[in-house]
Amino acid sequence: MKADNDLYRTLRDKACATLWKEDVAAFDRSVEPERSRLVAVIRAVGVAFADRGTPAEKAQAVTWLNSLLKDPSEKVRRYAMAALPKLGDDIQAEAKLLDILAAPAGERERQKAVEALEKIGGEATLEAALKDPSAVSVAPDRVAARIARLTEPGEIRMDRILSRPSGVRIHLHCRKGLERILADEARVLSKEIFEVKSVVSGLVVLEPLKPFSIGDIYKLRCFAQVGFVLGDVRAQSPEEAINPIALRIASNRTRDLLAAFTDGAFRYRIEMDPALGDAELVRKVGAEVHRFDPKILNDPRESPWSVDIFSAPGGASVELRPRLSPDPRLGYRTGEVAAGSHPPLAAAMARLAGSYVGEVAWDPFCGSGIELIERAMLGGASRVIGTDLSAEAVEIARKNFEAADVPGVRGTFVCGDFREYTKIPELGIGGASLVITNPPMGRRIPIADMRGLIVNLFNAAAKVLRPGGRLVFPNPLKLEAPERALRLISRNAVDLGGFECQLEMWVKD
Ligand SMILES: C[S@@+](CC[C@H](N)C(=O)[O-])C[C@H]1O[C@@H](n2cnc3c(N)ncnc32)[C@H](O)[C@@H]1O
Repeated sequence: MKADNDLYRTLRDKACATLWKEDVAAFDRSVEPERSRLVAVIRAVGVAFADRGTPAEKAQAVTWLNSLLKDPSEKVRRYAMAALPKLGDDIQAEAKLLDILAAPAGERERQKAVEALEKIGGEATLEAALKDPSAVSVAPDRVAARIARLTEPGEIRMDRILSRPSGVRIHLHCRKGLERILADEARVLSKEIFEVKSVVSGLVVLEPLKPFSIGDIYKLRCFAQVGFVLGDVRAQSPEEAINPIALRIASNRTRDLLAAFTDGAFRYRIEMDPALGDAELVRKVGAEVHRFDPKILNDPRESPWSVDIFSAPGGASVELRPRLSPDPRLGYRTGEVAAGSHPPLAAAMARLAGSYVGEVAWDPFCGSGIELIERAMLGGASRVIGTDLSAEAVEIARKNFEAADVPGVRGTFVCGDFREYTKIPELGIGGASLVITNPPMGRRIPIADMRGLIVNLFNAAAKVLRPGGRLVFPNPLKLEAPERALRLISRNAVDLGGFECQLEMWVKD
């Protein structure tokens, strides 16, 4: 085994053409016992050709690996079975693997054939598994999900309406500290469609008042994730939870939501709180769901839906979540910066700032421009100005702002230290009505004088803001404004992704 691994490590980084000309040729010429000593060549071909082979080279490798499935050596066959799935689907291999399963040389070979079929099996495998589950012991739900992924992968439709919404509960998850802003956003923007039922730490609960689409939910910008509640489960142990969780997933509620919002197959992946169970438990839940409803398919790969299973007192709570990536609210994003803001935080900061007609907003540390774009989208702004030390960030912000294409708002983006704001003609003394920013926190890139930086931010805001203008930012320090002209309007703790900051709004008197 060690010798196999050592040889594999020397081969895996070779160019495919060299591997083929030298090592595959040597393997083909070899006879036992030399042949069994060279099995690492098979493994290396699987990895190297899958990783960097041209389509022609991949086809060549698949044909070769297929021929090895008939090799007299059990070890060679096993290595070929492990390598083949890396190179994708292959109908010929499926037939050969089923042949092997009909008369395996032993348990090890049987197991390898099952594993390979779970990865590349199609209709023939599913049929064989349903006919003789003890011989073809592949998980039928996995194979069914794979077939669905290839034939009708399924897509979430933002515009589709759930026509019978009665009893549906929607959980809007957000960073702690943003719940009130999110609840206000829902009350203002979607009061005819959703009612805010409750607001708790990191969560706003909505109930629909009438038929709605996922697009209606995504008009709200301050939440991070949305989940449709499938129910709570009480259980003493993880094993005890399998059946009730599966019943929630294979429920009428799930079917209604999936049918309303999905085009194609109903595929979901399970995201289980690790405190509740491991990958084996996830498999068991998926298999049980499939037993209850073979149309609801657990598929960890590229599924449009997720079922999130959270720890809850005495058991678990289960939610169905659309996996929309990239986030449809960020369609303007052409690029990001390394220390980019959490987009719902930027949206919440813009809402906290409020919208005033003729607003001129400045972000001294604009990065990719997200706070300014959120502010522009709220309405009322006439100009946004971004400064950043990084020329690359400024270019990204400019492009993002152009892509956002907010009518009536002009953008100015300048590379430089924010303290040099007087050089920006659009800014000047009293030139802005809002300073909105997420300053560097010194976590990824250390800041030599953090206190000095925040003091200078207050100084600059006091100068550029006109009376009544606001400064909105997450303050990483416990620091009062050194400027008497700035008065604190609100301050509340928000989670900035593992650490807490005070989200503050100051007004210039
Ligand atoms: C937290 S990031 C801003 C992220 C931005 N809100 C976004 O989502 O892309 C802070 C930014 O401040 C910039 N920066 C740091 N010191 C600066 C300074 N003295 N003047 C201007 N920009 C500065 C960094 O280059 C960085 O892009």
